Order: sequence, then C-alpha cells, then structure tokens
Amino acid sequence: MSDLGGSENILVLDKINKSFPGVHALKDMSFSVRKGEVHAICGENGAGKSTLMKVVTGVYRQDSGDIYVEGKKVDIKGPDDAFDQGIAIMYQETSLFNEMTILENMFLNHEITKKIGPLTVLDYRAMEDRVNAIFTKMNVRLNLHEKVRNIGMAAKQLVEIAKALTFNSRVLIMDEPTASLTDREVTALFEIIRNLRAEGVSIVYISHRLEEIFEICDRVTVIRDGEFISCMDVKETTKDRLVADMVGREVTSYYPKTDVPIGDVAFKIEHIEQGALLHDISLEVRRGEIVGLSGLAGAGRTELAEAICGLTKIDSGRIRIDGQETKIANYREAMAKGIVYVSEDRGKYGLVLGMDIKRNVSLPQLHTIATGGRIDFEQERKLGQEAIREFEIKAPNEDFIVENLSGGNQQKVSVARATALRPKLMILDEPTRGVDVGAKAEIHRIIGQLVEQGLSILMISSELPELLGMCDRIYVMNSGRIVGEFDREHATQEGILKVALEAKD
Ligand SMILES: Nc1ncnc2c1ncn2[C@@H]1O[C@H](COP(=O)(O)OP(=O)(O)OP(=O)(O)O)[C@@H](O)[C@H]1O
Ligand SMILES: [Mg+2]
Repeated sequence: MSDLGGSENILVLDKINKSFPGVHALKDMSFSVRKGEVHAICGENGAGKSTLMKVVTGVYRQDSGDIYVEGKKVDIKGPDDAFDQGIAIMYQETSLFNEMTILENMFLNHEITKKIGPLTVLDYRAMEDRVNAIFTKMNVRLNLHEKVRNIGMAAKQLVEIAKALTFNSRVLIMDEPTASLTDREVTALFEIIRNLRAEGVSIVYISHRLEEIFEICDRVTVIRDGEFISCMDVKETTKDRLVADMVGREVTSYYPKTDVPIGDVAFKIEHIEQGALLHDISLEVRRGEIVGLSGLAGAGRTELAEAICGLTKIDSGRIRIDGQETKIANYREAMAKGIVYVSEDRGKYGLVLGMDIKRNVSLPQLHTIATGGRIDFEQERKLGQEAIREFEIKAPNEDFIVENLSGGNQQKVSVARATALRPKLMILDEPTRGVDVGAKAEIHRIIGQLVEQGLSILMISSELPELLGMCDRIYVMNSGRIVGEFDREHATQEGILKVALEAKD
C-alpha cells in the first residue's frame, strides 16, 4: 500500500492474511480509512468482511500483515488493544447478554466508577446520564433497566449502536447496523453517522443494502473471496459496478417474481387478540400466494408471526387451515399442521449454532429420517449436501459448524432448514437480512419455486422494495393492528409508508 503513513489515514491494514481450518478467509487484504470519512466495505456473504474487522478489533490474530493507526504500526493482540487505539465495533450478531439490563450490557467491561472514601464503586448515575445523552442524540427511547431478553431485534441493534458510542472511539466499525431497522430508524442512524463524521470520527460501514452506501458513505472498498478488488469514491461509481465487482459477474434481476396461479385460501386467521400486542387481526393467505407483512419496528409483525405459530398464546380469535378451524397450542403442533417459521433471530428459534450444517437442516425432521431410534446418517448427509448446493452455502462441506459460517450463510441454512420440511405455510421473518445481492436473488428464486409447488408464504420484511418486488398482496401493520392492505398493482412505497406511519403520529 502506497500511503502507509499518509497523514490523512487513521487506520491502514496492509496485506492481511488469515486462515481457518479449510478456509483462507483473507488473502493479502489491504484497506485504509481516512479521518472523518464513512468507508463502506462491500462483498458477498463469506467474502471476509467480518473477519477483517475481527482482526482489527483483536478478536482474531492475523497470520501475517500489518496494522497502522495514524501512521504508527500497532500490535493488536486482543480487544483491549483495539480499545486503547480508539477502535470500537458493533457486531453483526448481537453480542448482548439476555439476562443483563440494557445499562449493564452497555458498560460491560468498561464500567464508570467513582470513589467513595477508600472504595471504588460503580457510578450508575454517571452511566445513566451518559447513555441517556446518547439515546437522546439517537432519538431513541428505551428503558435502561429492562432486561435485554425482553426487547426486540431492532431495539437490540439500537443498543449495540449506543454501546459502541459509549467508547468515544476514533474509528467506529458498524457491521450491518441496519439489518433489523426500519426506514425511520435508519434515517435516525444516518443522522448520528453524519454528526460523528462531522466530529472527525471515522466509520467503517458494512452493509448489504447498497442504497445505503450511496446515501451515507464517502468511499467503498470491495472484497471478494478474501481479496481486495477495488476502492472507489462513492460519487464516482454505480450500483451495477459495485455488484459486478462483488460477484465477479453482472446480476440483472434483483427481485425475480414468477407468475404463479393463485389457489384457494390455505390459511386464515380471524379477529386474533393478544394482550396489548395484537388487536383484531384478520388475514388470509392463498395457495401459491406470497403475502407481505409491512410496518415499522414495533408494529407487531413478529409478534403476530409468533402467535400464529403457537410460540406465544393468543387470547381469542380463530385460525383456519384449508377452511378447517384449528387450534395451535405450541410450535410443535404448528409444524405438524404444516406451518413453519423462519425467525429473524437466528439464534432464538432457528439454528443450533454449535452443530454442523447437516444436523441443523435435518433436525426438525429427525422423526422422518430416524427409524427404530437410529438416525439415518446417510439421509442426513444428503439433506446437508442438498442445502449447500441449492442455496450455494459457502462452506467446505456439510460437517462445517454453523457458528463458523458468515452471517449471510447462516441465514441461508435457516431458510434451507425450513424448506426441507416442505410446509404448507412458511412464515419468513426478514428472510434476506444480512444476505448479499446474489444470494438474495437466490432466496427469492427459491421462494418463487416453493409457491409454484402450491406452498403459501407470509413474509415479513423491513425492505419495502423486497416486499413490492416479491408479494402478491401486502398487509400493513401499525400498533398491533392491520391498518392497510394492498394488492400487487396498487402497492407503492409511498402508499404503504403513509398508512404505516399514520395512526401512530
Ligand atoms: N471461526 C471460524 N472458523 C472457521 N471459518 C471461519 C470462522 N470465521 C469465519 N470463517 C470463514 O471465513 C470466511 C469469511 O467469513 P466472514 O464472516 O468474514 O464473511 P462476511 O464477508 O462477513 O460475510 P457475511 O456478509 O455473510 O456476513 C467464511 O468462509 C467463513 O465461513
Ligand atoms: Mg459478516
């Protein structure tokens, strides 16, 4: 790299190599960040983005290559060294502890203390003031003393961001910060990013949402298969150029919707009520139909999905499958009746991270591949291999532990696992969160195939273009109610946003 000590560079990574067993994740990867810029890193799932950032933050040690901060070579042996250099990160997978409160999570390992006589004690007051100041800046209202287990994905991500901001860092790394945020929250985040940039903080911004890169970033570096491909001024590049650099070929159709004949009503709910969360919800999904569920974070979309699947109890209301009224007491019953749920929170109802790919894919159908109490390992292996092939999961083989897959590839395993069950109704909660453009098109193609086979899909997504591109019909939720319904011809971004916001303000 030419300008190692270049005065405007705050952070320089020079020819970094990092291997894991069977995976050469970073190959002579170089990257530099200027003072007060927002620098995007783009690349497909498994390209090495998160690994590169984990090297910078001392989670992994590089095999070779150097790191410079303000022109000085530094040795980052662990997270503390990164912290000392003023480098902070908010992770892609939330790293919060469920049993601790928001406040406790935010100051874990860097608590603010005060002296009372000879004693050093936690200064809760100072920590609260600090967080409240950050929340005010972010336009976020959360109860600091709430346990993290009780807050949703979007709130968790906001806490992650706020946590990173407590570090007063010079370089702030955001690994897919907007994956669970809705448009309004993204707007607020961008405001924060602009303020930080104005204060001279540098931001490394990783996202699969390319529009965001054009909106908020100054430069963009593309990484493919662990290698540096290009570094461009955002103003001087285009989405097509970026995508071409990322995948090494041109991707033409982003939302390939196939025309499928729509059949009878396969699934219907009537007047569902649940505490303060869901009010008088009625909706239906036909065979072969893809139905979207739109709304802001907190509108009740995930709560509705969980209620339908028996993950939470409803107070009243009816559920009909193929016209037949039915009761769903728990998730096992939902699956037996042909309903599967792909959660937005992969760790929660989805994957067993410590297990390998084949076991994860086959787990929900163990009963069908186990005979006489013995698992048919051959069959299990086949399911694993099929998933890898069909979803182009980036892994050496089906024995690979899911935890070691990149975020987007974990998401693919999660979807593969649900489709392997061949359900009647599949509820997808943010199915392409953290998934790259190529793989996204792939998941959309597979969704298209599923409805062709007569399946019904209920899809929650915070990305309106995705819903508009994929869905036959879209319901809009707001404050636990359905406040709008659009068919494909009449659905527009403005129309949906209007009803999504209306009742609330
Ligand atoms: N601890 C680990 N052990 C083995 N392999 C790993 C480990 N961590 C990452 N890898 C592998 O390194 C490669 C790069 O992964 P990384 O998480 O950096 O990708 P990414 O660009 O962040 O992708 P995504 O967009 O899906 O988040 C992948 O092939 C991944 O499976
Ligand atoms: Mg990643």
